[in-house]
Amino acid sequence: MPKLGVNIDHIATIRQARREQQPDPVVAAGICELAGADSITAHLREDRRHIQERDVRLLRQILSTKLNLEMAVSPDILRFAVLIKPKDVCLVPEKRKELTTEGGIDVSRQKSKLYSAVKRLKKAGIRTSLFIDPDELQVRTAVDVGADVVELHTGSYARVFFDIKRRNKELERLKIAAGLAQQLGLQVNAGHGLDYHNVSAIASIPGIEELNIGFSIIARAVFVGLDRAVREMKDLVG
Ligand code: PXP
Repeated sequence: MPKLGVNIDHIATIRQARREQQPDPVVAAGICELAGADSITAHLREDRRHIQERDVRLLRQILSTKLNLEMAVSPDILRFAVLIKPKDVCLVPEKRKELTTEGGIDVSRQKSKLYSAVKRLKKAGIRTSLFIDPDELQVRTAVDVGADVVELHTGSYARVFFDIKRRNKELERLKIAAGLAQQLGLQVNAGHGLDYHNVSAIASIPGIEELNIGFSIIARAVFVGLDRAVREMKDLVG
């Protein structure tokens, strides 16, 4: 039964649309925890389009579960993470123009950069995860660079969900990658594009420990409220 991490970035997206103080992602994180979230994820993007440093600082202080900070390998943000010391960091690729994280980090092409970043984060006591595509080479290289965890990108699975043949193919890729990662001693998480329809098959993959889900929960919360949206997802995941 995987744990549920709720990504609160899009509460901050609404706030930043008017550069106001509301809705506050820190308040949202408290509501998510009360509704059963096992952790809170926030992505501090280089362009600061949603989450701000102030949010990360406060989340680090007030959460009673744990903070999973998503970030690109950029010198400023790395410095900030080492200072703030979230429980977990998930390193992701980042492109300025993308609407959301489009693919996994290419670990094999950035081996030395990732090796140093992971080493630095781990030295600060931060458990470090790499957001990767479900691919054998990426899993094996994640071990080489010293990662503790891999988060498997479920975006391709989510995109083809209504095409059963392609869905099954993507599920198979995820199962194989999850199995290999566990065999090699990594913790396996998954996320991206998961929603109330497609989450159950991913939650049933043996050994997946955490699912990080954002957009679908916040979108539902607009209509039913955040508490109910998190509870309904938690029921599906568990
Ligand atoms: N995991 C990672 C590493 C991500 O970058 C994102 C998106 O910020 C998510 C999970 C959550 O994806 P979604 O918002 O599609 O649920």
